[in-house]
Amino acid sequence: MKINRHYLQLPENYLFSEVAKRTRQFQTQHPDVSVIKLSIGDVSRPLPMVVVQAMKQACREQGYAKTFHGYGPEIGYPWLRNAIANFYQQQSKIKIDPDEIIISDGAKSDLANLLDIFDTRATVAMCDPVYPVYLESNLMLGRTPQFFRATAANDLLPLPDEQITADIIYLCNPANPMGVCYQREQLKQWVDFARTRQAIILYDAAYACFIHDPNLPRSIYEIDGARECAIEICSFSKMAGFTGMRCGYTVVPKTLVTADGISLNQLWRRRQTTKFNGVSYVVQRGAEAVFTPTGLNAIQQNIAYYQRNVQLICRTLNKLHWSYVGGVHSPYVWIRCPGMRSAWECFDFLLQETGIVFTPGIGFGSAGENYIRLTGFNSYRNTQRACRRLLNLQQNKKH
Ligand code: MLT
Repeated sequence: MKINRHYLQLPENYLFSEVAKRTRQFQTQHPDVSVIKLSIGDVSRPLPMVVVQAMKQACREQGYAKTFHGYGPEIGYPWLRNAIANFYQQQSKIKIDPDEIIISDGAKSDLANLLDIFDTRATVAMCDPVYPVYLESNLMLGRTPQFFRATAANDLLPLPDEQITADIIYLCNPANPMGVCYQREQLKQWVDFARTRQAIILYDAAYACFIHDPNLPRSIYEIDGARECAIEICSFSKMAGFTGMRCGYTVVPKTLVTADGISLNQLWRRRQTTKFNGVSYVVQRGAEAVFTPTGLNAIQQNIAYYQRNVQLICRTLNKLHWSYVGGVHSPYVWIRCPGMRSAWECFDFLLQETGIVFTPGIGFGSAGENYIRLTGFNSYRNTQRACRRLLNLQQNKKH
C-alpha cells in the first residue's frame, strides 16, 4: 500500500487531541476533581437569539417544497457575501467586492486547503510558535517550512528579514498563541516585503474581533498594497460563537494575480467548487443574522464577556508575579512557565495541583517550550474559580 508517508512526520496526535487525551486520563484517575478547561479556544457563550431565530426560520423553510433549498452556490449565498462586504465597509472602511468573499466551513479548513492552489514546490514560512494547522498541513504535503521566531527581542512580533525566502508567508493577527497584535506600520512592512518578493501572505484574522483599539488594523486590506499580496481568512467561530455551527470565509481579492495574469480568486473558487459543496443554508442564514444591528450588538457583548475573563486572568497573573503577554486584543494569554519547567511538565503540574487545563506552548513550536497558554473563553464563573485555585496554589506553597 502506498500511503502518504509524510503523515509519519506528524506528532501522534493533533495538539488539542493530545490535551484532551491527557485531560481524560487525569479525570479517570481523579474523578472527584472538577476540571476547568482553559485550553482550546472554544467559546462558551450561546449563540445570539437573533441567529437562532434566523436558523429556526431557515429550518422551517426547508420543510416546505416552495421554500426548500437543495445545493446552494458552493462559494456561499450572495446575501451572506453582501452582508460580509458591508461589514468590511462599516468596520474598516474598505471596499471588498462580494465576489471576492468565499464562504466556507471555517478558517481551519481554509488555512489548510488553500495550499491546493499553490505549486507543490512552493516554499512556506511561518512564525514559531504558531497555530499547529499551518505547520501540519504543510508537513502532510512533504514541505519543510522556514520559521521566523517570536522572541522577547522582537516583542513576540517578528518582522520580515532577509532570511525569509518563502513563496507563502503565514501571519496570524492577533497572534495565536501569543495573544499579541501587530501595529499598522509593522503589518505594512510585511505587505511591502511580500510584494517585493512576489510572495503571498495567508493572513489569519480569526481573532480580529478582539481588537478594540481603532488605531490597530482589523483587516490586512487596511494596509496599502495588501490587495496585491494577501488572502484573508476569517471565521464566525470566535466572533459569533459558531465553533459548533461551522462557518467562515476567505477573501481572495481579484487584484491578486500571478505575473502571467492568473487570478487566485478563480483558482480558489475552482478548488472549492470541485471539493466542497458549501455550508448549509440554515447555517448561512444564521451567519447572515450576525450582521443585523441586533446580531452585532449581541456578539459585542459576548466578546466583552470574554475580555472580562481575560482581564481577570491577567490581574491574577500580576498578583502571582508570573510573566505573560497577550490578553489585551486577544482571548489568549501566553505565560512563561513558572518555576522554569518545560511546557508539558508545567501542564502536568498545574493539572495535578489545580485541576486547570492549560495548553502547553511546545505544542505550537519549539519557541513555545517554556510557555503555557490560557484562554478567556470559559464562563466567568469557571474563570473566577480557576483564578482562585491559582492564587491558592501560591498561598499553599508559602506555608
Ligand atoms: C486554538 O488555538 O485553541 C485553536 O485556534 C482552536 C481552533 O482550532 O479554532
